[in-house]
Amino acid sequence: MPDPIHDRDHLSELVTHVAEAARHYLARVDQLPAGGTAGRDQAAGHFAGELPEDGDGSVATMTRLLTHGVQAAVNSAGPRFFHFVTGGSTPAALAADWLTSTLDNNAALWVSSPLGSKLEQVAIGWLKDLFRLPRSWGGVLTTGATMSNFTALAAARQWWGEEQGSNVAERGMSGLPAVPVMASGFIHASAEKALSMLGIGHEAVQLFTSDSTGAIDLAALEGALVGLKGAPAIVIATAGEVNAGGFDPIAAMADLAHRHHAWLHVDGAFGLFARISPVTADLADGVELADSVIADGHKWLNVPYDCGFAFCRDARLLNAVFGMNAPYFPATEADHPDFLYLAPEMSRRARSLAVWATLAAYGRNGYRAMIERHGGLAKRLADQIRASSDFELLAEPRLNVVCFRYRPAGTPESELDQINRRLGQAIIADGTVYFGTTVYGGKVAFRPAIANWRTEERDVDIILDVARGLAER
Ligand SMILES: Cc1ncc(COP(=O)(O)O)c(C=O)c1O
Repeated sequence: MPDPIHDRDHLSELVTHVAEAARHYLARVDQLPAGGTAGRDQAAGHFAGELPEDGDGSVATMTRLLTHGVQAAVNSAGPRFFHFVTGGSTPAALAADWLTSTLDNNAALWVSSPLGSKLEQVAIGWLKDLFRLPRSWGGVLTTGATMSNFTALAAARQWWGEEQGSNVAERGMSGLPAVPVMASGFIHASAEKALSMLGIGHEAVQLFTSDSTGAIDLAALEGALVGLKGAPAIVIATAGEVNAGGFDPIAAMADLAHRHHAWLHVDGAFGLFARISPVTADLADGVELADSVIADGHKWLNVPYDCGFAFCRDARLLNAVFGMNAPYFPATEADHPDFLYLAPEMSRRARSLAVWATLAAYGRNGYRAMIERHGGLAKRLADQIRASSDFELLAEPRLNVVCFRYRPAGTPESELDQINRRLGQAIIADGTVYFGTTVYGGKVAFRPAIANWRTEERDVDIILDVARGLAER
């Protein structure tokens, strides 16, 4: 196939072929092992080789992807993939995402995609309503929580510079003092990575913890803020700690931040969704008092990778950092938003189609029902752990993460970490259900997270049986 132009006639056949394969896959995904087929690693090996001088053409190439590729994939679209915090794709989001690729619009500017820009404006407004954030805040879609942390903390850095009388976007950080950044032990590694990317440095973060789980020591945080004597600082709170789903006391941290001249940023990658349900909303109380907050789309909103959101009380600061000018860019017109001026990227996927479509399809009540169902499933698993004699619950689930370990009777504490690590490897190799280990409160632990719209009781009910069976073997 010398030139893609000659492939035009195959396009219809190709799209039909892929749609049929997708239909077949999605009809089976509830039953498939979450970790993929036994030969997944060998299947991935089929793709090695040199860059072809002459390609095989799209039909033959897609046939390879649909056979070896699907065999090498994990079934994270299915209901038993509990690793990390992995959402699926709702039917509406998946369909809209296919259309996104079909239209292939660049959501940088209104002129490059009126559809993408309008839907991003509407979707950001709807997300603010969903998360009960003030309508006046700015917001933008990103590739995920890491880039959202980067985006929001860039606004925080800009504010911090302005408080020192300097415009960091214009002049950089040279000549400025180190930025004081404070957090509890719940801070996610991605917020630290964002600080690395921003030239603040992740070693700038001072942690104030009151116990081995990382929970905050508010008095120590206040002491450190007082010690700055009014110099500006950044405080990072976490809504939904990744190991056990813990929440920092956001309202109290907002109060401290505002009394002591600090910016409060909230990382709510999945925890921000607690605000959708009255059952869990109080966990993330006070987010509306923060200066910036972020969440992920590809986690609990269940839109395809990759998607996140960053919200900032003062949209001007986002524009100060991410605004750019070129003679070939048109001037922004009223009600014709140009999101590239608020976002790290210039050319951007039109992620707004999937976000808008899933919110339009299921609405606030649909998301509330799903969040509450997942919370109920997490409690159900916790009850099963409590009722068992060989598993130990390490933290009461607050939302959708269940932190526990295997603890067969009579096993000395000194052996438990090693046993749980090996069991974690066996769970990944087996793949029936899929989740890994972490270290929580100094103990090696499991932390399955329930975030897929497909997950039901039957999916959660096999977790302990699978783990026990593998442990006994
Ligand atoms: C609290 C928190 N923040 C940030 C992230 C990073 O998210 P992403 O992988 O979408 O960048 C995660 C991922 O699990 C998270 O739990």
